[in-house]
Amino acid sequence: MLNFKVNEDRCIRCGKCITDCPPMCISMQESDFPVIQDENKCMRCQHCLAVCPTAAISIMGADPDNSIELKYELPTAHSMEALIKGRRSVRKYKKKALEEKTIRRLLETSFHAPTGVNAQGVFFTATTTAEATEELRKEIYAKVGKLLSNSDYDENDMRFQYMNMSHKAYTNHGMDIILRDAPHILIASAPKTVPLPKEDCLIALTTFDLLAQSMGVGSLWDGMLKWCVDDFFPELGQKLGVPEDHQIGYTMVFGHPAVQYHRTVQRTPPEFNLVSKL
Ligand SMILES: Cc1cc2nc3c(=O)[nH]c(=O)nc-3n(C[C@H](O)[C@H](O)[C@H](O)COP(=O)(O)O)c2cc1C
Repeated sequence: MLNFKVNEDRCIRCGKCITDCPPMCISMQESDFPVIQDENKCMRCQHCLAVCPTAAISIMGADPDNSIELKYELPTAHSMEALIKGRRSVRKYKKKALEEKTIRRLLETSFHAPTGVNAQGVFFTATTTAEATEELRKEIYAKVGKLLSNSDYDENDMRFQYMNMSHKAYTNHGMDIILRDAPHILIASAPKTVPLPKEDCLIALTTFDLLAQSMGVGSLWDGMLKWCVDDFFPELGQKLGVPEDHQIGYTMVFGHPAVQYHRTVQRTPPEFNLVSKL
């Protein structure tokens, strides 16, 4: 039940909700105000609520007055450019965990990233205490040790080379290359049944990465953790609560950074293929 409601005192019958509806399921033909004829067609994107200039539309119980007004709130292109170019892979963290409300805010906002066919299936698994992450860290290195002592593995496999190097650094020097001593880990997964599970997770994590760094939280895409919870020890993902019918999209670590970057890096200028005429 969509519960599509039009506040008739506010609606100016401009038709914007009709023209912006992707599955074209809103009409005004048989009524003075917009209606949804076939609820099954609706993809629950809420464009009708967002595009209405007078905040007249409510759908699925969402009150338009509870949305963030966009007029004064968007960052400038300059600040976005500074964020995108200034975002860095943080590999040094303070031990102290983030407040749980900060983690919830990061995850709740990142869940707003777009998903294929608006599936909204991305599921975040995060550790919220440094103690839980420390337990996981110990378990990972113990398992990596066992994995490496099994002589069956292929030494040419890059994943094992990295694991070997990381295990040596951890056991000989107490250096954690896999989780970078971060106080939190993050796994994005999505049901295998949604149209684009992997893509949805990667976009959600990209959103998380940028938002985190805009809030002074450090983050790192962590391929080594992905190998651990997805390729080598899937039981760890399950222990953390990743649903069995989910595909893991990717993993990150995050926390208070113990390093500060003062300027953007300068990348080699990219090449573009700009087509102006066919
Ligand atoms: C998919 C992906 C996986 C990554 N995995 C790791 C990793 O396991 N360990 C690590 O230290 N850095 C990892 N990185 C970080 C990259 O090395 C980093 O993005 C790159 O060196 C550029 O640095 P910057 O992010 O600070 O611009 C990963 C990055 C991406 C995008």
